[in-house]
Amino acid sequence: MRTWNEPRSGANRPTNDGDRVVVVGGGIVGRVTAWRAAQRGLSVTVVEPDPVGAPARGRASSVVAAGMLTPATEAVFGEERLVELGVRSTRMYPDFVAELERASGVRVGYRTTGTLLVAFDRDDMAVLSDLQDLQRRTGVASERLTSRECRRLEPMLAPSVRGGLHAPDDHSVDPRLLLRALAAAGAAAGVAELADRVEEITDGGPDGAPLGVRLADGGVLPTDQTVLAAGCWNDRITVPERVVPHLRPVKGQLLRMRPPAGEPPIVGRTVRGLVRGFPVYFVPREDGEVIVGATQEERGYDTALTAGGLWQVLRDARELVPGVTELEVTETCVGLRPGSPDNEPLLGPTRIPGVHLAGGHYRHGVLLAPVTGEAVAEALADGALPEYARAFAADRELGGGRTTTGEKQWN
Ligand code: GLY
Repeated sequence: MRTWNEPRSGANRPTNDGDRVVVVGGGIVGRVTAWRAAQRGLSVTVVEPDPVGAPARGRASSVVAAGMLTPATEAVFGEERLVELGVRSTRMYPDFVAELERASGVRVGYRTTGTLLVAFDRDDMAVLSDLQDLQRRTGVASERLTSRECRRLEPMLAPSVRGGLHAPDDHSVDPRLLLRALAAAGAAAGVAELADRVEEITDGGPDGAPLGVRLADGGVLPTDQTVLAAGCWNDRITVPERVVPHLRPVKGQLLRMRPPAGEPPIVGRTVRGLVRGFPVYFVPREDGEVIVGATQEERGYDTALTAGGLWQVLRDARELVPGVTELEVTETCVGLRPGSPDNEPLLGPTRIPGVHLAGGHYRHGVLLAPVTGEAVAEALADGALPEYARAFAADRELGGGRTTTGEKQWN
């Protein structure tokens, strides 16, 4: 019997040519990896039970996410190297979007309008001051604004807003369009699609036969390399020995809203805010829709939409932009962010030969899509992650790590 826990020696590619790749999970992270891997000449199949465009049912964070590309205004103390990875990915976005839109024929709603981060009271303003120190240290741009200057940028803000930070390089994209574009670009690049659920990564056996994935319908799909990209649902897949870290679900509840017909959008750019220590955000789309979110709750796989969760979001949203109560609610959503033990993504080879991870992106799956696709595809094609991604290697030592334990925190 092969011992999967044996340390890897050198490259992780299996002994055969490794050209067949199965990507488990058809969210943004899975599909960007599939597209980039196919561009490198690999033969890629995405296995995903839900069709692209299926309604958000609490499973797929890609269709719930607001789409903020905000490494500056979502920066967290102790996560400096993650901020750097986020900045790298943000800088890739313009070329990534141009290439993706060309390849797919789908516009992804990329908006380069910057982000305004505002504080509700004096304590919230103190947090923003500390955050600006972190932003300076990590080299991300931000400018301190008075309350009046904030309202000049966003006239619907409450006059009581204390002040804020303007981050000119924190942008946004529409994750639902991004997902559709990645599926189309993948198909055009030769990515095959299988509508099924993976239940197990099968052991290759003593003869070193190729790995396979066992599907819910009972069939086994043979493969040379497998990428686990099913978010916190990775945990439901049986893997030979337990070398895939647990990704804890972090629930987010949010609302999608629209102004009444003929009324202007409520905000012109992403507005993030801190209200008595609680974070809240508004992410506008080109057509006037605005995503208002989000809770951050650690309740396992619970995907219930709760009155308390929506109330918390609306309570804080109204403090910053009172006119939010005039909007029409068009959709309410729940998603589960996949949090790794140290809240950083897990990329590339695991200790199981041929099994890779693209997961644990937590709050940053959309932001980190370009960098993830590039890095994991390189590992699949060449056997190792690029230098810049090695700190996030899936086979790194993981301690107990930080977890988010309460709702009252910055992100
Ligand atoms: N990055 C936004 C969120 O996780 O809610």
